[in-house]
Amino acid sequence: MFSSRIPPSLAPNRLGHAVLEQRRTGRPFIDLTESNPTRVGFTYPPDLLAPLANPRALGYEPWPCGAIDARRAIAGDYGRLGVIVPPDRIVLTASTSDAYSLLFKLLADTGDEVLVPRPSYPLFDHLTRFDLVEAHPYDLDLHGSWSIDFGSLERALTPRTRAVLVVSPNNPTGSFVTDAELDRLAVLCAPRDIAIIADEVFADYELEPGASSAAGRAARRREVLSFALGGLSKSVGLPQVKLGWIAVAGPDDLVGAALERLELVCDTYLAVSTPAQVAVAELLERGAAIRSQILARIATNYRWLRSTVAGVPSCDVLRSGGGWSAVLQVPSLEPEEDLVVRLLTADGVLTHPGYFFDFPRESFLVVSLLPPAPSFADGIVRVLRHFACRASRP
Ligand SMILES: Cc1ncc(COP(=O)(O)O)c(C=O)c1O
Repeated sequence: MFSSRIPPSLAPNRLGHAVLEQRRTGRPFIDLTESNPTRVGFTYPPDLLAPLANPRALGYEPWPCGAIDARRAIAGDYGRLGVIVPPDRIVLTASTSDAYSLLFKLLADTGDEVLVPRPSYPLFDHLTRFDLVEAHPYDLDLHGSWSIDFGSLERALTPRTRAVLVVSPNNPTGSFVTDAELDRLAVLCAPRDIAIIADEVFADYELEPGASSAAGRAARRREVLSFALGGLSKSVGLPQVKLGWIAVAGPDDLVGAALERLELVCDTYLAVSTPAQVAVAELLERGAAIRSQILARIATNYRWLRSTVAGVPSCDVLRSGGGWSAVLQVPSLEPEEDLVVRLLTADGVLTHPGYFFDFPRESFLVVSLLPPAPSFADGIVRVLRHFACRASRP
């Protein structure tokens, strides 16, 4: 009865089971996988969302790509990061996941392929599968910092490749794509009519000073059709508002053709709420206060993590340019899955195993930098203690 786009088993994995069991039996644990900014103690002013009640939202104007005022506000926000994007090259979406789905519909037929970075964001499996597109991995190499392994990318290209996805900074490695990497990608993609889709949702959140301003930006590309993805979910910590965007760049004729077709797809769904569009300019402005809190939190946790783990010979924290997570390299004394289940059940701390993100080998743990500093430190101390390492709390 049901389509094969949905995975045959919906049962939670072993770690998911263990989490349910901890909750069912009321055993508390520190959640170092929490990535929801609304649940980690930031101060959201109670009237932050008042702009959603703007009376202008009482009328309905179904603009497929979004109201031009909203697109202007987003273009203005790109200006804050030194990127110039004309408002008519911005398309509003309900989320980044929605943006991927629109772009797969725009670019790919059933069975066509997109290249996805490895390690990266696990949702790509579902996102591609639901749109009947095949995800083929290309590797990111770790040599002190992460960079695209162009050999593996070239080997993954086939006549059915329709797009190369980059995530900058990547979740969870924190690596920003460089201009030189985008140049090389453009040389490979443009002649083959392959587009670049750059997920830049974490671009505001640098952990190493200067990493964000030094990064390549897809919206500046002129030689290859490129789509840069962003959204309120991360840029101002408001995932519940459900507003994202696609900035389209590249050769003018291709950009025009892509926008015409995106307009048709968007017109068919009209997924973006009018209150969110009317409010976006103000939310971008007011949300800067949330962004600063997030930045301060992730910077504090990242610095503390690096300095603490630096004193622990058997563990390491990988250098991260930006984003909301950090990666710990830990001794491979047992399979990652056993390790994370044991950390949860015996040590009371929940972390993600590296294999969730397709790390090339074991053992890595991925932790969110969002939790309040005391619980973050408590959780990390528990992880390090598991390896009989001693770490002092801040
Ligand atoms: C790299 C990346 N892109 C997109 C998203 C989802 O963004 P949105 O809430 O706009 O769908 C996430 C969520 O964690 C993410 O890690």
